[in-house]
Amino acid sequence: MRTVRTIAELRAAVAARRVDGQSVGLVPTMGSFHAGHLSLMAAAREACDAVVVSLFVNPTQFGAGEDLDAYPRDQARDAELAAAAGVDLLFAPPVTEIYPDGFATAVTVRGITEVLCGDPDRRGPGHFDGVATVVTKLLNIVAPDVAYFGRKDAQQVAVIRRLVRDLDIPVRIEALATVREPDGLALSSRNAYLTAAERQRATALHRALVAAERAVAAGETASEPVLAAARAELDAAAIAPEYLELRDADDLTAVTAVTRPTLLAVAARVGRARLIDNTVLEPVPQPAAVPAAAGAPGEGAPTQ
Ligand code: PAJ
Repeated sequence: MRTVRTIAELRAAVAARRVDGQSVGLVPTMGSFHAGHLSLMAAAREACDAVVVSLFVNPTQFGAGEDLDAYPRDQARDAELAAAAGVDLLFAPPVTEIYPDGFATAVTVRGITEVLCGDPDRRGPGHFDGVATVVTKLLNIVAPDVAYFGRKDAQQVAVIRRLVRDLDIPVRIEALATVREPDGLALSSRNAYLTAAERQRATALHRALVAAERAVAAGETASEPVLAAARAELDAAAIAPEYLELRDADDLTAVTAVTRPTLLAVAARVGRARLIDNTVLEPVPQPAAVPAAAGAPGEGAPTQ
């Protein structure tokens, strides 16, 4: 594995792989690798000839008073893990390489960035401007065939899919399942901020999602009882969520019933850590009503 720190070096190294028609996969990260990051690298290694991982703690996606300075950084360890995962190129630029003096452009995805984590009363849409801008730059710098993201950040995936579509960026976006600890806690670099007791309480986020999944699996479709099942788990752990909401899985509009695959997303502060998690609730298929003058046995329900 080669570590490169400049855009010019990275472009040259990718171009060298491209000459023999190799496919390129990109995994954007902010480092402090855990099994969630490694699962994205493994998927890229499996599907692509050349794997590029970017490691850049992007200052523009941190709000004032957020944890930019405290964000865990250990490049030597990360480089070892990336090499062991079969990564070819680790792109670890300094801030001035990505945001040189006079940098003045931002990518804004409207609408879907203004809810959940982007709600103006919470982190605000500026967080997603930072994400959208840096991801657009990374996609332009590497021009990968495929870019890999984790569904743990479901809103981030929705934002990136939208900007890729709106800006005609020729890349396939792969969104991979959330990797969890055995007790359900979603892996996150921010779990490092939790004390042992907080770490235990934090497992309530996943229990809340599972409680909602069970309610839906039992046939519940109305939003209130589904949310109440989730909320009970958070209450039991004395966690007051920043949000606990049902949203359309693609466009993040609010929904009042689980009649098709629906995102249940939660964010909560546990001690110093701001944690997020989500699941997609799949309603149980309702038995199709068979009309009185139904066709021959074996014919399915009428499609419309
Ligand atoms: P970071 O938090 O380092 O995450 C890098 C990638 O790993 C993201 O796509 C994220 O969704 C994924 N990931 C994190 N935890 C995961 C888990 N438990 N299971 C599976 N995947 C997981 O997300 C960012 O960095 C940044 O916003 C970035 C996209 C790099 C732009 O700066």
